[in-house]
Amino acid sequence: METEVLPETIYDVPTPAFLVDLERTKKNCSRMRERCWKLGVELRPHQKTHKTVEGGDLQTDGTRRKIVVSTLEEADFFSKNGFDDILYAYPITASKIQKCKEISAKCEQFHLMYDNLESLKALQNSPPGNGRAWSVFLEVDIGGDRTGIPWDDDRIISFAREAVNLSNIDFQGLYSHDGNSYSCTQGKNNKQGALEEWGQTASSRIVETQRRLKEHGIECRTFGVGSTPTCSVPDGSLSSLTEFHPGNYIFYDYMQYLIGSCEESDIACRVATRVVCHKEEQNRMYIDCGFLGVSHDGLYNGPEQSGMAKFIGHDELKFIGMTQELGFVSTNDGSKLDYQKYPLDSMLFFYPWHSCATAANHSVYYIHSGDKIVGKWRPTRGW
Ligand SMILES: Cc1ncc(COP(=O)(O)O)c(C=O)c1O
Repeated sequence: METEVLPETIYDVPTPAFLVDLERTKKNCSRMRERCWKLGVELRPHQKTHKTVEGGDLQTDGTRRKIVVSTLEEADFFSKNGFDDILYAYPITASKIQKCKEISAKCEQFHLMYDNLESLKALQNSPPGNGRAWSVFLEVDIGGDRTGIPWDDDRIISFAREAVNLSNIDFQGLYSHDGNSYSCTQGKNNKQGALEEWGQTASSRIVETQRRLKEHGIECRTFGVGSTPTCSVPDGSLSSLTEFHPGNYIFYDYMQYLIGSCEESDIACRVATRVVCHKEEQNRMYIDCGFLGVSHDGLYNGPEQSGMAKFIGHDELKFIGMTQELGFVSTNDGSKLDYQKYPLDSMLFFYPWHSCATAANHSVYYIHSGDKIVGKWRPTRGW
């Protein structure tokens, strides 16, 4: 087999490039595992951020067991690579059942998530085969306005009961993402304790839902919470849950730093780009990273002036816009750009606003230890 030639250092990569700091990534993974261990909850890490075998190995400590995925393509990819106990945490609908059967045949445990009776009945009518039942989680919305049945809605009881009663269905318990944690900001300039406070609310809503089901004779083997902010700064009450399923923590990003989920020194990914044009009349320069290198995510959301990205070592710079292959950069305070500091072809690195969205634009991640490139990871793509 031909050995792959790697760029020598982070300054030699073709740009734009997605870089992953191996030491920081390992640290983020071991810290989350230890946190779960101390709280007495199981960790079922989400694979949506990186979508790679190597990232999955670091998150599961090499066991390749107990993961969450967001697409059927991810489920297929991870099952083919020897991962098992896979939860496809996306609302299941009838059109996806055939593909689920194919994946289920490759796994000892493959779980689905539902939030309506139509899909549940479609599952009942189309069992996975080999005498098996579909293992299902009921999705609970504990705030965040996404899919799932609101935690205080009585349909929770009837939908769970239906799953318990139907043949070909094995009811596991409750799944909740808890996207609300993303509106907590306790990082820079914000309210201390906001994440713990939200964690308390999240755990009480899930525990209350599980308790109501129990009162109706329905047992939940698993009732967990996801989201990197909640799981990174957990309130002690979260120890009453059985499972955490965060994903973004493997890399974190600039948004997580502003929320208060991590320190800047925990952000394990960055984008490398080069200056391609000086435009003094606009007080701008252009870089070779547009929305296909970083995504639009965060462009209009940045609570800080610096918006959607944090230029490393260049607090004065602001990412102000982009086209497909060009990024527009000016100064944060409107002062004149000092073009001598950024010659054509000079390199800039920035922490992306949302690592999941940025990583998704890259077919290769360059892995580095210090400045040295030590490998490449190739994510799966598609749905
Ligand atoms: C269903 C589901 N579970 C878990 C997660 C993981 O959350 P995070 O990205 O905050 O780690 C996500 C992220 O979007 C999700 O959609």
